[in-house]
Order: sequence, then structure tokens, then C-alpha cells
Amino acid sequence: ASAAAAVARRPRSVDADPWRQTFHIQPPVGLLNDPNGLVEHGGTYHLCYQWHPFEPAHGLKFWAHLTSTDLVNWVEQAPALVPSSPQDMHGCYSGSGIVHDGAVRFLYTGNVFSPDGQRLPHQNLATLERDGRVVKHPANPVVPPLDGYTGDIRDPKVWAQDGWYWMVLGAQTLDGVGTVLLLQSADLVSWQLRGEAAGGAADPRGYMWECPDLVRLDGRDVLVVSPLSDRGEGAGGPRYVDESVYSAGSLDLATARFTGAGFQRVDAGPDFYAPQTLADSSGRTIMVAWASW
Ligand code: FRU
Repeated sequence: ASAAAAVARRPRSVDADPWRQTFHIQPPVGLLNDPNGLVEHGGTYHLCYQWHPFEPAHGLKFWAHLTSTDLVNWVEQAPALVPSSPQDMHGCYSGSGIVHDGAVRFLYTGNVFSPDGQRLPHQNLATLERDGRVVKHPANPVVPPLDGYTGDIRDPKVWAQDGWYWMVLGAQTLDGVGTVLLLQSADLVSWQLRGEAAGGAADPRGYMWECPDLVRLDGRDVLVVSPLSDRGEGAGGPRYVDESVYSAGSLDLATARFTGAGFQRVDAGPDFYAPQTLADSSGRTIMVAWASW
């Protein structure tokens, strides 16, 4: 942690750039995409993001890490996750944060390709230690192989409810349709699939649903997803290009089924993608997404 603080204090030419954002988070170099691991612990907010440090293009993803006490002023920390293990060797993809047993835990997707280029889904667990190091769990991947889906399974969002941990996970059926899976765990280490919460054949919107999020607002469950779709306007379907959508309804944990109103765009701007929510200790629900402009 002290080495990280020293790095953050070193003067950098990027900070003198007159176009540099003062409120929105930008990477020091390279490419930023999804917010990850948004969590509050002991009066500190942690916000990570998908970061490709080597060029302003998608590639080998790290989790950059910042902390704040007010969600406005952020301090850069050492990267939370780097692709350093066989369970995430082609990138530490998106995921979420949760406090368990007094420590911040991250659930994330390890991007792993087989030698012939097939995606091999890995959902991993890591712990943020007191000294700032992040330790990957020896049991990774913690989600067992899931039959009936392609290798496009990623972006675990985890919450605690009714004495259990629950995870929504973005996925694609073998028919090439986006879906959200619901999984259950007692300890964050051992996970069981409960079913398809939404999407699949019943709602063929998008060929893969990325970055699902579930938040309770005004007594309703709000499911947010970021569908990948080729269908441009004029091609007969709605245009879901770097847009996220939500549906307000209710998630029945016993049947794993979400029922809700039709999906609406979360934001009407040119892009607003992969939003992640946090219900914080002051009763606010915070949402963070990425935008490219
Ligand atoms: C969404 C996404 C996620 C993935 C990450 C990789 O923008 O494609 O599905 O985990 O970005 O950077």
C-alpha cells in the first residue's frame, strides 16, 4: 500500500492536461471501460474499473482501483487485479465487490482462451487485504462449469439476501440469445446455479447480456443489463449499442425467476454502459457507468 501511495504522489504530465476531467474518473494512460467492485467498507468507498494500461484499445484488462470517502475526491491505489494467474491469464474482466467476514471481496471474470481461441468461463474470488494487497482464492474458479451456455459467461454481481449470497451472471444460450443466470452460495466460494432469471428464449433481445445488476428500489427489484446486439435501427429491432436497459419488477429467489415491466433505457445519451449499483450505508443507491464522451 505504501508503494502504491508513492506512485500516486509522483507528479505526472497527464494531470497537467487542461482537458483532464475533474469529476469523472479517467485512467492515467490506456483505456477505461466498466466500473467494477463498487463497495463501501469502514467509511471508504472502493471503485475499480476495467483498465487496459498498455494502449487506448481493448486488450489485456486489469482492475484499476480508487478509494474515496465522499464519492467525489478519489485516491488512486495500486491496481486491484492484474491478469497473473492461469484463472485470469487473458484479462481480469468485470465483476463486483462485497464485504464478507470483515473484508472486501471481489467476484470477477477471469478471461481465459483455449489454445484454439474458445472462451473458457472462469468466475473468480479475491480478497482485499488490510495492507492493500489483493489475494486470489486458491479454489478459483468458484463457479462450476454451466451446461447449456456458450463460453460467453461473465460479469458476476453479488449481493446478500435472506442469509445467502446471490449472484447474477451475464450469459449466452447455445441458441445465441442473451440471458441472466442466478446463482446461490453460503460462503462466496461454492456456488450453485438456480436458474435463468431473465432473458433466454423468452426475450431474444441481444445475443449476449453483459454486466447484469440487481438493485432494490422503492420495494421493487430492478434488473439492469447491457445487451450486446447487432440490430441497428432500421434492421427491425431496437438499437442497443453501448446502452444499458432496466426492468422494474420482482425476483423470486425460490424459482429464480424475475418478472418485470418491459425494458427501458437507463440513459438516453449516446452511450451509458455496464452500470453498477451500490446501496450505501446512508441509504442512497449509487449508480456508476462508463461513457466514451
Ligand atoms: C462490457 C464488457 C464485459 C467484460 C468487460 C471486458 O463492457 O465487455 O462484459 O467483462 O467489458 O473489459
